[in-house]
Amino acid sequence: MGGSHIRIKDLCVLHEQHKILTNITVDIPPKGVTAIIGPSGCGKTTLLRCMNRLIDETEGMQVKGEVWLDNVNIYGPGVDVTEIRTRVGLLAPKPFPLPMSIYENVAYGPRIHGWKLDRKENNSLGLDQIVERHLREAGLWEEVKDRLRSSASRLSTGQQQRLCLARALAIEPDVLLCDEPTSALDPKAAQRIESQLRELKETRTIVVVTHLLRQARRLADHIVFLWLGELVESGPASQVFGAPRDERTRAYLAGDIG
Ligand SMILES: Nc1ncnc2c1ncn2[C@@H]1O[C@H](COP(=O)(O)OP(=O)(O)OP(=O)(O)O)[C@@H](O)[C@H]1O
Ligand SMILES: [Mg+2]
Repeated sequence: MGGSHIRIKDLCVLHEQHKILTNITVDIPPKGVTAIIGPSGCGKTTLLRCMNRLIDETEGMQVKGEVWLDNVNIYGPGVDVTEIRTRVGLLAPKPFPLPMSIYENVAYGPRIHGWKLDRKENNSLGLDQIVERHLREAGLWEEVKDRLRSSASRLSTGQQQRLCLARALAIEPDVLLCDEPTSALDPKAAQRIESQLRELKETRTIVVVTHLLRQARRLADHIVFLWLGELVESGPASQVFGAPRDERTRAYLAGDIG
């Protein structure tokens, strides 16, 4: 397992006649955390949803351009969208555990597809081991190991978000997309998610949408800065934060806009 390289080329997204993203060309290097930042409505979530074709599910969206996941253009002909979504997992802003036990939440993905794919490391393991492994990766194992069969809805919100992280990891994605992953959490629960993401970035490509600049500074190795549907600047976090090239980036980081 290793993080995939994502290369986005001339990506345009329209909703009816309205331009949401215009000519986005950007590289998301393998492994590490890439943060997508920018003011509300600039297109961060839309860009994220283009990376696993979840955007297809929104009526009226038109996508042009290319999104390469290693050597596959996921908008190319003959692409299997279900397979793409097993390679690119998603953590949503709010935890939404499935109405079943903690164990079944994590076992769900491997049961329905991930387990059967040849390249998966899961294949050498039994389901109990798979569940344990991904709960550990999400930093939840110690808290739930004695009540795996109890309902996921009884967990705290922060625990539920880590359970959703375990569920996303259970299909062994190469890429994990996170849209404002801590927005529903208190600071302590948010910290837990951030520290798990920091561990996971060693083996996976992690893309985090956040409107919290402090979170981006804590987490990100690379920054993508969007403004009104356009890419203004991208690069290593140290460069974008330390010496932004564009005036709009400088103003946004200074808190003057957005
Ligand atoms: N389903 C939709 N139908 C029509 N327009 C949409 C839809 N989803 C998003 N948009 C529009 O696309 C633009 C970008 O939205 P998006 O949600 O990607 O922004 P964002 O940067 O994630 O904002 P926020 O920080 O508020 O979450 C906005 O102008 C929004 O109104
Ligand atoms: Mg958003």
